Amino acid sequence: MVMIRDAARVEDEILSRYRARTGVSRARHEEARTFMPAGDTRAATYFAPYPTYMAAGEGAWLNDCDGNRYLDFLNNFTSLAHGHAQPGIVELAADQLTRGTVFGTAAEPQVALAKLLVERVPSFDMLRFTNSGTEATMMMMRAARAFSGRDIIVKMDGGYHGSHDFVEVSVSAGMGTDGPLMPRLEGRGVPQAVLNAVMVAPFNDLAAMEALLRQHHERIAGIIIEPMPNSGGMVPPASGYLRGLRQLADEFDVLLLFDEIVTLRLSSGGYQQIEDVRPDMTAVGKIIGGGFPVGAFGGRAAIMQLFDPDADADSLFHSGTFNGNNMTMTAGLEAMRRLDEAAIARINRLGERLQDGMNAIFKSQGIRAQCLGYGSLQQIQWTDEPVVTLTDARRAGEDMSRLRELLHLELLNRGLYTSNRGMFSISTPMSDGEIELALAAVEGALGCLKPYMREAAPRLLRG
Ligand SMILES: Cc1ncc(COP(=O)(O)O)c(C=O)c1O
Repeated sequence: MVMIRDAARVEDEILSRYRARTGVSRARHEEARTFMPAGDTRAATYFAPYPTYMAAGEGAWLNDCDGNRYLDFLNNFTSLAHGHAQPGIVELAADQLTRGTVFGTAAEPQVALAKLLVERVPSFDMLRFTNSGTEATMMMMRAARAFSGRDIIVKMDGGYHGSHDFVEVSVSAGMGTDGPLMPRLEGRGVPQAVLNAVMVAPFNDLAAMEALLRQHHERIAGIIIEPMPNSGGMVPPASGYLRGLRQLADEFDVLLLFDEIVTLRLSSGGYQQIEDVRPDMTAVGKIIGGGFPVGAFGGRAAIMQLFDPDADADSLFHSGTFNGNNMTMTAGLEAMRRLDEAAIARINRLGERLQDGMNAIFKSQGIRAQCLGYGSLQQIQWTDEPVVTLTDARRAGEDMSRLRELLHLELLNRGLYTSNRGMFSISTPMSDGEIELALAAVEGALGCLKPYMREAAPRLLRG
């Protein structure tokens, strides 16, 4: 009984501190709920009891509407490689704004960004822009079906590729261990018919992929995979896994599609460059828009030419009112120019420092957890066992959702903004000082949560 009071006390204290700091946010949220379900337009940004309303950002910092300051490790879910309102990008965007945001014609700014991306990403012979990553994976998958003349795309169990119907399948990894994986519709409203065109395979398991391809390859257009699945838990690919997938794709004549919407920031040519594996097509997004809405998909010229009415009388239709708009292209080009190899190496090093620091804190506090990821992208996993598959990652977090929420709120109380699943991304305005601040906040928050863990999550504590 004494211990139960301890956990409830920790919850109460964290929530009370959060409420005391964020009265204006609460009022804004109450009003917003009358106009928008959950008061927002994005599932990922909502959290209980109500989200913090941010009012302004500069560099690595955010200010909320109650006057609190936060070091931003969310960076709009990894998309702001340079943090907020970067001098240089702001001036170019403002200048473009005075000359027109979008013309409803082809325009120069998108050519320069297309050229930069083709030069950097090994698999891009040609590409096209969209307004979101969701559209990019949707069009990439459609192109793969059109090129191959087959319908089925294999995705990873637990892989996230946006919110169009054909990827709203098995977004949370299955918990079972035996038998072939069956694709599952992730939510209501996605038609059952989608299951005729999607198969799933476990991440980091070449044998399972080989078995699936051996049996079904004649109906399979391609395999879509995020080289390091981020919402699956920032689980790195096992050594040789991506190369093995390339070999299997070649052997069974299916296309290999990389979703590098998040992982592009890890090297100048994305994870495909790190692993020296060339997919047939790639989708990118987030950082390439310099803070504006964006996506892009591209790949081998023979596939991309399907979109060219001069090259193909039966060309694929791809349009979008704001595709390649001047604002996104201008800001995106400058953001990508500034994210050169030196900048990427620097933020990757900071991410590794964060990982080492967090792992040292877990060890010294006797908490069975680990920080997992690569370079500038890191995530807390609530286990000290190896995390190899996305099922491993889901199991580690399965009964920890309240702990994750409380850690997220306590980090906010301590001036650190992260994702509520414990993901951290580094931006270029950060330096060692910001990593130290983050580690101090994590250490303090975990110390505060230990009495809660002792009662509500004892498996996390050693001894
Ligand atoms: C790997 C991955 N693919 C696709 C998407 C969808 O991108 P967007 O939110 O721009 O539609 C996301 C978004 O977080 C993502 O993480």
